[in-house]
Amino acid sequence: MAIESTLLIVKPDGVRRGLIGEVLRRVEAKGLRVTALRMMTIERELAERHYAEHREKPFFEDLVAFITSGPVVVARLEGERAVEVLRTMMGPTDPATAPPGTIRGDFGLEITENLVHGSDSAASAERELALFFG
Ligand code: RTP
Ligand code: MG
Repeated sequence: MAIESTLLIVKPDGVRRGLIGEVLRRVEAKGLRVTALRMMTIERELAERHYAEHREKPFFEDLVAFITSGPVVVARLEGERAVEVLRTMMGPTDPATAPPGTIRGDFGLEITENLVHGSDSAASAERELALFFG
């Protein structure tokens, strides 16, 4: 058994499109437990800290502008191999090529507006959960 916690964000496009319930339904149906939940608008400083690993990338400015563009829903999920399970359910970064059955594959078409964030490792999850839930 490897019970883990991970951070899920329903990004501003997911909230705008009314997909909060659909995303939470999928992760709960899979068996992950929602152990903290919060709706908020991410401020620029938090966005830059959350995505610090991408600071030098050409898409960084677009990424920060997008994630701060409207309300998001932030959740702590807990369960067996939660980090990997959530990433599998999300699908690859680019929704255009994400397989059907994944959240990005079923609902997205464009790389910036890719609906959801999930921590990419246990270490990232610990860092990101501290940023959003203290
Ligand atoms: P996330 O962190 O949001 O869960 O996404 P991810 O792990 O699948 O992808 P990551 O490499 O961490 O990139 C973070 C976000 O930056 C945007 N991006 N744009 N234009 C581009 O080439 C590009 N590459 C990445 C995406 O919105 C991605 O979610
Ligand atoms: Mg990432």
